[in-house]
Amino acid sequence: MKFKLVPICFGMLMLLLVTSCNDSTTTPAPEKDPDAYTNANGINGGILFDKFWSVESGFDQANPNIAKLNASSDFFRCKQCHAWDLLGRNGSYNNRAPKTNRPNIADRNLRTTAKNLSAQALFNAIKNGINTPRRDISADLSGYNPATNATVGDQMPKFSQILTDAQIWNLVKFLKVEALDVTQLYDATYSGTYPTGTSVYSNIGKDGDAAVGLEFYKAKCQVCHGVDGKQIANLDATPGMTTGKFVRSKPNELQHKIKFGQLGTIAPLDMKATPGTITDFKNLYKVLADVVLFPN
Ligand code: HEC
Ligand code: HEC
Repeated sequence: MKFKLVPICFGMLMLLLVTSCNDSTTTPAPEKDPDAYTNANGINGGILFDKFWSVESGFDQANPNIAKLNASSDFFRCKQCHAWDLLGRNGSYNNRAPKTNRPNIADRNLRTTAKNLSAQALFNAIKNGINTPRRDISADLSGYNPATNATVGDQMPKFSQILTDAQIWNLVKFLKVEALDVTQLYDATYSGTYPTGTSVYSNIGKDGDAAVGLEFYKAKCQVCHGVDGKQIANLDATPGMTTGKFVRSKPNELQHKIKFGQLGTIAPLDMKATPGTITDFKNLYKVLADVVLFPN
């Protein structure tokens, strides 16, 4: 009895040690990314984020929802609720108040979300949401009034009804890989409370190289915008808006447009400076911020 118990006890002890060692020293192997994510196109995802039903995104223009999407555009564009910088109402869109034709900005930081969630979890969050009511495609948005009935209009659309899985994977790839990190392009101070906050931009282009940025501008932008950025006047339908002024006043927005394109028929998608790296854009921002070379 005595002799038999010892090896059994010893065996049990070893087992215990091995299991507890396993628990404390080896972290579980990371979930392998689905092939659909690996093969996804994050540049297309960036276009989808701007306006997923645009011609440039390849969205089926015969889709029965097109009329509805066009009629209530800002209730469906990801960028409207989540902002170009992905910071929602806590970034550059802290003063973008709702109107009858556009909803409140979401109180979410998609940059953090994208970093913290696995590709699959992020896919699920876009497609179905996690315990949060999503707006049905049939919702009537014509009577939206931010002061009285914002609840449904402010909800994220139920994208399982609108986007294909492939499109959602492209959005996931955009959020996790291709979206530019604006903190590498400029400094910003956000103060106040949505929707009456203030954004102050500084240090545009950060430690970028202006001379290299000027060469980039000459190669990718000058043909349309001219030597001083004033060739296309009144950019953004704003009197007096020049290329330099736009960078200095809306660096949050231009970064997306030069990487993923300026959508729409007037401005060709050629505007996107592919393949453009974060360093290229930093250099470009640095020179465009120069008020002598690129005046207001
Ligand atoms: C009408 C505004 C609106 C639109 C348009 C919208 N969202 Fe959202 N989104 C929200 C709100 C509000 C939340 C937070 C509540 C929720 O999860 O439903 C959210 C949550 C999310 C989340 C989860 C974030 C988190 O931290 O929980 C992701 C990811 C996301 N949205 C991505 C997108 C993408 C991609 C698009 C475009 C295809 C999009 N959203 C369009 C309003 C919107
Ligand atoms: C093929 C011509 C073309 C090229 C190349 C081009 N752009 Fe544009 N850009 C346009 C047009 C057209 C518009 C839209 C004008 C408008 O809507 O008023 C535009 C708009 C803009 C705007 C205003 C954005 C807005 O929201 O209205 C800025 C800023 C800008 N371009 C900067 C650049 C920079 C920087 C580059 C180089 C990386 C560049 N563009 C390359 C044609 C071009």
